[in-house]
Amino acid sequence: MKILAIETSCDETAAAVVCDAVEPDKRIISNVVNSQAKLHSQYGGVVPENAARMHAETIGAVVNESLRFAEITVDDIDVVAVTAGPGLIGGLLVGTVTAKTIALAKRKPIVAVNHLEGHLLTARLCYTVDCPYLLLLASGGHFMFVEVFAVGHYKVLGETLDDAAGEAFDKVARMLGLAYPGGPEIERCARNGDQTRFSYTMPLLRNPGCDASFSGIKTATKIHIESIPNITDSDKNDIAASFQNIVTSSAVRQLSKAWHLTSSRPARIVLAGGVAANTELREKVARFATQMKLETYFPPIALCSDNAAMIGWCAIERISAGFEYSNPDFKTLPRWPLS
Ligand code: KG4
Ligand code: ZN
Repeated sequence: MKILAIETSCDETAAAVVCDAVEPDKRIISNVVNSQAKLHSQYGGVVPENAARMHAETIGAVVNESLRFAEITVDDIDVVAVTAGPGLIGGLLVGTVTAKTIALAKRKPIVAVNHLEGHLLTARLCYTVDCPYLLLLASGGHFMFVEVFAVGHYKVLGETLDDAAGEAFDKVARMLGLAYPGGPEIERCARNGDQTRFSYTMPLLRNPGCDASFSGIKTATKIHIESIPNITDSDKNDIAASFQNIVTSSAVRQLSKAWHLTSSRPARIVLAGGVAANTELREKVARFATQMKLETYFPPIALCSDNAAMIGWCAIERISAGFEYSNPDFKTLPRWPLS
């Protein structure tokens, strides 16, 4: 089965051709991502109107390129898959209208995919990962701990009460005058910084659940920055290192609490989302997993951030699990909780 997948929920215009090969390394036939980072960098974040316009301008070329790299035509496709939510409505409409048009014109079935479910199952695209597992999804829009029992059967154990971790990285980068997206910039600066220079209070220390909070850390960082009269690159490195340390420490502390809240006591921990590219987070999660004698699965960095291969794979997983194709009249859903 070959699937043409489209993803336009935020600031990446993406199309991919994936198949249901048994060997994970043969599943992605093409995976094209046109990042809008340069456009949004001028404004320090994603401007939805600009994002939608750029998706509309580039979607045709991106879809064509994914087919060209796969050395097939649209007639060779068995199914069309597309992100139908959650995300920014303008981008979602560009993706879904494109996908519906291809599906209707070529008489192909279509699968409307939840973007979060795409992230959730990415590790199973790249590796053989059995369920159940505990997933930490940390992206620009979401931060949540999910117990994955089977395809389509998920329990959200906890999530951020305010900002997503990636959002905090982006906002702190902006405060420091760094480029968008902020996560990789903060990580780069943190490499040369002293993570003990600025102190923070661990959020939600007395909270019994595994929810998370990053806005207090963001505000504390603002206060640290304002306390320095003439900020130098070295100060910025120390701020970045201290900030990254508290965010990743808090994430792993809550991950540990999440694992103890699972009902299946999964033997595996999986990371997903753009922030999962962060080396310090990966190292801390790996250390926790080793202590607990758990396996860890980290998707390759290119598949942690938004891409269409994960959307195509999610459709394959759903079809294999016996879920129906979508009605081509399906609606785009800017809000679409996993539950
Ligand atoms: O999953 P993603 O590509 O898009 C969303 O669905 O949100 O995640 C993007 C987020 C951005 O906030 C970006 O700053 C963050 O992931 N990010 C990182 C790193 N690379 C990307 N955060 C921390 N460290 C990184 N290395
Ligand atoms: Zn995402």
